[in-house]
Amino acid sequence: MNKIKRLGVITSGGDCGGLNAVINGAARMALRNNIELAIIPNGYAGLYNLINLDLVIMDESRIDRIHSGVAGSEAGHSRVKISKIKDEHKYDRIRDGLKKHGIDGLIIAGGDDTGSVVVDLYNNGIPCVHVPKTMDLDLQTYSVGGDSTINRIAKFTDELRTTGLTHNRALIIEVFGRYAGHTAFRGGVGADADCILIPEINVDYEIVYQHFKKTYINRLVHSDVKGSTYIIVAAEGVKDKEGKYFTDSTAGQDSFGHQKLSGVGQYIRKQLEYFMKQDTEWADVLKNEGIYVDGIYMYPEIREVQLGHLVRAGGTTAYDVAFGKQGGGAAVLLLLEGIYGVTVVGVEGNEISYLPTSEAIKQRYVDLQEIAFYEQLGVCFGRQVKNYDPIFKRHEGVIHRYL
Ligand code: F6P
Repeated sequence: MNKIKRLGVITSGGDCGGLNAVINGAARMALRNNIELAIIPNGYAGLYNLINLDLVIMDESRIDRIHSGVAGSEAGHSRVKISKIKDEHKYDRIRDGLKKHGIDGLIIAGGDDTGSVVVDLYNNGIPCVHVPKTMDLDLQTYSVGGDSTINRIAKFTDELRTTGLTHNRALIIEVFGRYAGHTAFRGGVGADADCILIPEINVDYEIVYQHFKKTYINRLVHSDVKGSTYIIVAAEGVKDKEGKYFTDSTAGQDSFGHQKLSGVGQYIRKQLEYFMKQDTEWADVLKNEGIYVDGIYMYPEIREVQLGHLVRAGGTTAYDVAFGKQGGGAAVLLLLEGIYGVTVVGVEGNEISYLPTSEAIKQRYVDLQEIAFYEQLGVCFGRQVKNYDPIFKRHEGVIHRYL
């Protein structure tokens, strides 16, 4: 063990559930090892300005005031890419800030962008360990925030079904996730969504339309109160048949160069309405079911709902609290051991596993074989249903799998 006296904790990127648990786990493990943990506020913006800041030290009473089950981060966030700061002495300035506060190493929770800065800082001689965090769940490891987001997507979608059904509306629920569809997929499955659209599959809207029409009408004709709905969960990064993202060009880019994605729900609605308005069968169906009103109610309504930041705000699931505490606590132990530039994978028994951060942050996408499995269960993914060819095998070794 080396002579670390004080560590700093940074949380960065999009916030989500579990970050306060990371801070809690790191702070308590630090206390246990007689070292101090300082909060470096507001992500990398705080790190760059450390030289001018006063820091909060996480003593017993300060830790007590941070609730692991509350989403967001007591440490605050920013989206700042250090290498892009126009200051040729930026790394010296950071090192001076760390020195001034006696900080010997950093625990940094964040996703792929944050992780790329961890690699950069490590290459610049700054000892740091990365705790995987992103609601997008697109790292090689599990990342804190994923489970909380999935549960929130499932809960909100389930709840929105009541208004969809009451008004006989189809609903398109647009959710964050950037270029990967993990949380839309799992959240949609969790909410019994009829259709789940993810960036990994180029969407054929005619297929979605046919599935919508069949499912909606089937529900309507079998309902004794003539109620129907159709629920689509769509990841913000959904692409069309030609593989193009829907982007609102006015939304701009973040400091990591990502186009801000927004508005795909509206785009999907327009695609479905395009097919619906040419389809004369609707009038017959609605007439037969006694809900047709000429000129006013000739097709079911389709509405989009953007869940936006709701999916990463509010509460944290117990799984994310536990994983966050593991991540924070394990990061302290790795730093004490002199293992830097790595990402915590997990804690199992007395084994703390990790990966070089450069590997851990490589983007992971939804497994399309698993999509085929859910297609057998009737969920539409915006493509022709593929066969699912199972391979049966006896499981060997320890069973440990989460997302
Ligand atoms: O990376 C997490 C994430 O929630 C993405 O899914 C989303 O595109 C983005 O952050 C939104 O970021 P912001 O809150 O900065 O607009």
